[in-house]
Amino acid sequence: MCGIVGYIGEQQAYPVLIKGLHRLEYRGYDSAGIALINPEGTLSVNKAKGKVAALEALCADKDITGTIGIAHTRWATHGEPNTTNAHPHYSQSKNLALVHNGIIENYKSLRAEMENHGLSFCSDTDTEVLVQLVEYMQVSHECDLYTAVQLALKNVVGAYAIAILDRRNPDQIICARKGSPLIIGIGKDENGKAEFFLGSDATPIIEYTDKVVYLQDEEIAIMDRIGRMDITNLANVKQTPQIHTLQMNLDQLEKGGFPHFMLKEIWEQPNALRTCIRGRLNVVEKDVLLSGIIDHKERFINANRIIICACGTSWHSALIGKYFIEEATQIPVEVEYASEFRYRNPVIHSDDVVIAVSQSGETADTLAAIQLAKSHGAFCYGICNVIGSSIARATDSGTYLHVGPEIGVASTKAFTGQVITLALLGLAIAKEKKTLDEQMFHMLVDELQQIPDKMQWTLEHNKHIDQFAQIFTYAKNFIYLGRGYNYPVALEGALKLKEISYIHAEGYPAAEMKHGPIALIDEEMPVVVIAPKRGIYEKVVSNIQEVKSRKGKIISVVTEGDTTVKEMSDYCFEIPDTRDCFVPLLAVIPLQLLSYYVAVAKGRNVDQPRNLAKSVTVE
Ligand code: G6P
Repeated sequence: MCGIVGYIGEQQAYPVLIKGLHRLEYRGYDSAGIALINPEGTLSVNKAKGKVAALEALCADKDITGTIGIAHTRWATHGEPNTTNAHPHYSQSKNLALVHNGIIENYKSLRAEMENHGLSFCSDTDTEVLVQLVEYMQVSHECDLYTAVQLALKNVVGAYAIAILDRRNPDQIICARKGSPLIIGIGKDENGKAEFFLGSDATPIIEYTDKVVYLQDEEIAIMDRIGRMDITNLANVKQTPQIHTLQMNLDQLEKGGFPHFMLKEIWEQPNALRTCIRGRLNVVEKDVLLSGIIDHKERFINANRIIICACGTSWHSALIGKYFIEEATQIPVEVEYASEFRYRNPVIHSDDVVIAVSQSGETADTLAAIQLAKSHGAFCYGICNVIGSSIARATDSGTYLHVGPEIGVASTKAFTGQVITLALLGLAIAKEKKTLDEQMFHMLVDELQQIPDKMQWTLEHNKHIDQFAQIFTYAKNFIYLGRGYNYPVALEGALKLKEISYIHAEGYPAAEMKHGPIALIDEEMPVVVIAPKRGIYEKVVSNIQEVKSRKGKIISVVTEGDTTVKEMSDYCFEIPDTRDCFVPLLAVIPLQLLSYYVAVAKGRNVDQPRNLAKSVTVE
């Protein structure tokens, strides 16, 4: 949610910043801007409404020289997306320029206070208030920029990641964070000269260096041109930065010949899941090893209850995780929307295990839910994809998905990575608690191992979906139905379609259909039914009948070779047979492809759907 990039060194900053903005565009893309200090000491700010490409076009005939700069791609929270509200924002004197990710909650009262002191504002944003406040502190306390930033941040309520330039000091960038992520890359250019990079995540940095520092909450960093970096906290206590090595490579951030990141990530799933289970699933010894639980076995064995907190797609995988973990471990599992959980005074016991599921590891509500759970003494476990992310660091232990960076805004490989990781967790706990008999445990281990190959088969077998996606572009609504493990898949299929094609879609437990949604069914309504020949198959067949007799169009996901449902369907996608609990890992594939191709047929921007952002770092 908003992307920040920064650079100070000997290279020209503009190309580094623009490339970085492109890499961060998945976080927001309603406007973009860049601030540079040129060799003559001018602080220029250029901003454009729309995507980063619009900013590039604007800058084509501008002075873009300078070896220090900050840049921003925005997802609007305060003030509509236009050029005035785009970042960077100048201070009153135009000596300072600032970019910001997050929300300053008390910006209205701060603004009123400064207006009383004669300052004027040109935008509707909380960010302009912040940069004005910094300057106000600088002037009123006659202090340096660093002290002014510290004083200003002590007065703000809310979340922020900021980077700030001062025209009068072209050898220094100051940045700070609280609640929104910020990473500092420590590099050396080809002449061995020190340089620093800033990013909301590692994607704009990895091309130049793999050495990074994750700024912690309430820390302020000064980076200067001669390679010095000082970090202190708001209380002015010097901090010792921990330097981490990134485990990511550049290829993972490119489209690799695919027209969209989303399609690339859909096809990456078999390999991504192989990496996810590597070293964790041992088919020879029929074992599951999750290093995250080794030192905390007792917390899981003695857990009275597991609560899983998540948002969006991660909430859907959490629901599948609940079904599996409860069945395998006999521990009651609750799944909560993090945004509800954090504000509703939930009962949390110290013997609860609270699991956060989050691709980005930065979702503000999920992070807050974990902080709440920790304050009640619960043991907190993180299931994240982004290494070193805030949730990964805030939890007591956890497991990374290791599915590689996910760039497409609509989550695909992270979803299946989360489902399989939750299955591994369920198996690992079941092994400790001995809640599954040995034969069943071995069978599940063997079956899980085969999932990536079965996924590959599913992808190859359903490539043709592109040929008839066009048919559904007329539809204004879709219904997705599933039962048991496939109810969350129905939710996920519907969400994927909504997100990228803007067609309204509802996911429902198939049997609930007759309590409402059945009223919507007519010959115009496509109904996607997940109907594998497992579990309560016969019941799902009856639900299909109910739709058919009201002339709904049936699109089914069936087990390979099943002719009964195929004959009842207008369109049918096959998946290989697998255990009930693992069907979601295969059944979601045709639904991902369907939403992708319908969105493409409707001419949508699949990787950057309107109004959405991949990482929601504001509540
Ligand atoms: C946003 C994204 C979704 C994602 C959700 C939760 O809404 O667009 O794809 O599922 O946030 O994100 P997380 O990173 O916590 O999984």
